[in-house]
Amino acid sequence: MSYERKRVAERFDELLEGASTLKRGGIVTRVGEVSFEMLRLSREDVLLDVGTGTGAWAIRAAPMCRLVIGIDISRRSLEIAEKNARLHGVSNVIFAAGSFENPCEEMDLHAMGITRVLALYSLHHLPDDMKAEALKNLASILRRPGRMVIGDIMFFEPPEMHVSEFDDVGYDGGTLDFPSTADFLCEVLRALGAEVHTVRLHPLAGVVCGIFHG
Ligand SMILES: C[S@@+](CC[C@H](N)C(=O)[O-])C[C@H]1O[C@@H](n2cnc3c(N)ncnc32)[C@H](O)[C@@H]1O
Repeated sequence: MSYERKRVAERFDELLEGASTLKRGGIVTRVGEVSFEMLRLSREDVLLDVGTGTGAWAIRAAPMCRLVIGIDISRRSLEIAEKNARLHGVSNVIFAAGSFENPCEEMDLHAMGITRVLALYSLHHLPDDMKAEALKNLASILRRPGRMVIGDIMFFEPPEMHVSEFDDVGYDGGTLDFPSTADFLCEVLRALGAEVHTVRLHPLAGVVCGIFHG
């Protein structure tokens, strides 16, 4: 199991809107909707959307927040995201190159007052040790009180029991996708000091929300 950033970026440079969880429907979109609700956005919030893709959720969040920053490793997705933001007449969204490994590639996020972090169907491309490191890094950028919401493929049951449903949850079986167990994500967030809530939407997909109190 190894993370191949270049291959992942190339895949999403091709997929573009085809990778949007908002457009996919079924369980994948449901994960997005529940994640979005669990952000509990308010007008004062600054949302960081990691792996924003073509920006559908970032743009949806914009009218509810002070500022939204969407970062991604796919340059082409970011170009489309910017176009989409203009089409929707949204002016408080910034899109920039950035990754879980290095969120601040293009802008220093420490000074942005981030109160919400969303990782929607993006974190599963990293193996577990890199996920833990990335979440630690993101927790250091997040203001208190703050929330971090991960909506993704995550295993509540052994994946071998649900092979025929891999496509329903958008899991490629282990080529570029390396989902962890839901328990692993909860443990990482708890170790960072968060109160953790989990919503299981499918044996292989759900939402984990970390609340970081002030
Ligand atoms: C399935 S798409 C989801 C896009 C969007 N979050 C949504 O829900 O519609 C996954 C996105 O994660 C991005 N991604 C994958 N690995 C990443 C990483 N290490 N850092 C940042 N973004 C990453 C991909 O480029 C892609 O745009």
